[in-house]
Amino acid sequence: MDSRICDMLGIEFPLVAFSHCRDVVVEVSKAGGFGVFGAATITPEQLEIELSWIDEHIDGKPYGVDLILPNKYEGKGEQKSPDEVLAMLPVEHIDFVNGILEAHGVSSDDVDDAARRDSMGFANNLSIEGALGHLDVAFAHPIKLIANALGVPPKEMLARGRQNGVAVAALVGAKSHALNQVQAGVDILVVAGGEAGGHCGSVSTMVLVPEIHAAIQDHGDTPILAAGGIVTGRQMAACMAMGASGVWTGSVWLTTAEGETNPVVKEKMLAASSSDTVRSRSRTGKYTRQLRSPWTDAWQRADAPDPLPLPLQRMIAHPALMKVDKLSQSGHKGAQDLATYYVGQGVGLMNASQSARGVVYDFKEDFANAYERLSKAIGA
Ligand SMILES: Cc1cc2nc3c(=O)[nH]c(=O)nc-3n(C[C@H](O)[C@H](O)[C@H](O)COP(=O)(O)O)c2cc1C
Repeated sequence: MDSRICDMLGIEFPLVAFSHCRDVVVEVSKAGGFGVFGAATITPEQLEIELSWIDEHIDGKPYGVDLILPNKYEGKGEQKSPDEVLAMLPVEHIDFVNGILEAHGVSSDDVDDAARRDSMGFANNLSIEGALGHLDVAFAHPIKLIANALGVPPKEMLARGRQNGVAVAALVGAKSHALNQVQAGVDILVVAGGEAGGHCGSVSTMVLVPEIHAAIQDHGDTPILAAGGIVTGRQMAACMAMGASGVWTGSVWLTTAEGETNPVVKEKMLAASSSDTVRSRSRTGKYTRQLRSPWTDAWQRADAPDPLPLPLQRMIAHPALMKVDKLSQSGHKGAQDLATYYVGQGVGLMNASQSARGVVYDFKEDFANAYERLSKAIGA
């Protein structure tokens, strides 16, 4: 396809798949799209294992890596010991989480400081010092793209992208963020609307893509990948009509055969409508869109404490939600009710599980049909 993204990334179809699952990355790239491996929660050692596996299985097709290096978060620039960080977690919040679990018959006994300490790796990866090891690993592999979420990529990431001929992408959810990114020199803007799974802003993809496309025209016309709610080829065609050079997707891979989503949550996603997600700060402290469940409902209650800032909220939420995930898979009814995960509003269109490769083929066919419908409409 004639798209600047295809030229930059060396692909035939400008469909980018963000996933924490290496099989999805491989299958999407082999089917003509572009897989991006999400590495924000793992160690450099684990990243080395995952990327080596990808290299062995991807038949030389291009792929990328994604990190989360926010411009702002609690404790940025401070050196705190794990004990000092644990001491920052208010008892009120810990008690509130325990209360949610216990109201659903889930014991909070082992959701303790040891579990919270284990979940601190993510917080460490948010700083450039913590992520330098990830950059070393990523750039030692034949990646074609490195992406950053929640802020302008640090100068180390931009410089290493330049040196290695690797495109640097950044996720944005507002026009002002896009202008900052373009001024910093990113190569690709991932414009993510409020429909998106995971961290997201409040403006819809339908509005944000043309708004940012217009705003950057006088600043170098950086190529845009539209994101948020996109799970079909017809939506991809609509985004490209609005000025995007391709799309960046996350949710649609969660219900694929390869997606390593908790099977209980996968079933919930397949049954969910577009109204069954909510933007909530209950998981990381920043707004993320996720499947609505009694967990998210509890944090909306009048007696709920205000969620803590990133990354502290994740330190109290993650161990509890990991326990819920585990118990839900052993048939625990209360845990099954509570179970939730990041997903976008496009979940309402994700009604059957199929292979990642099948999803890429469906995108291609649906995109071509949409293009043909529009061509007929104008008599072309
Ligand atoms: C399960 C899940 C986890 C995500 N984790 C990250 C992440 O670690 N880094 C990141 O840049 N984006 C992350 N995202 C956001 C995606 O990169 C992408 O912007 C979003 O999924 C697009 O919207 P969609 O889910 O409607 O396709 C995540 C999304 C989902 C669904």
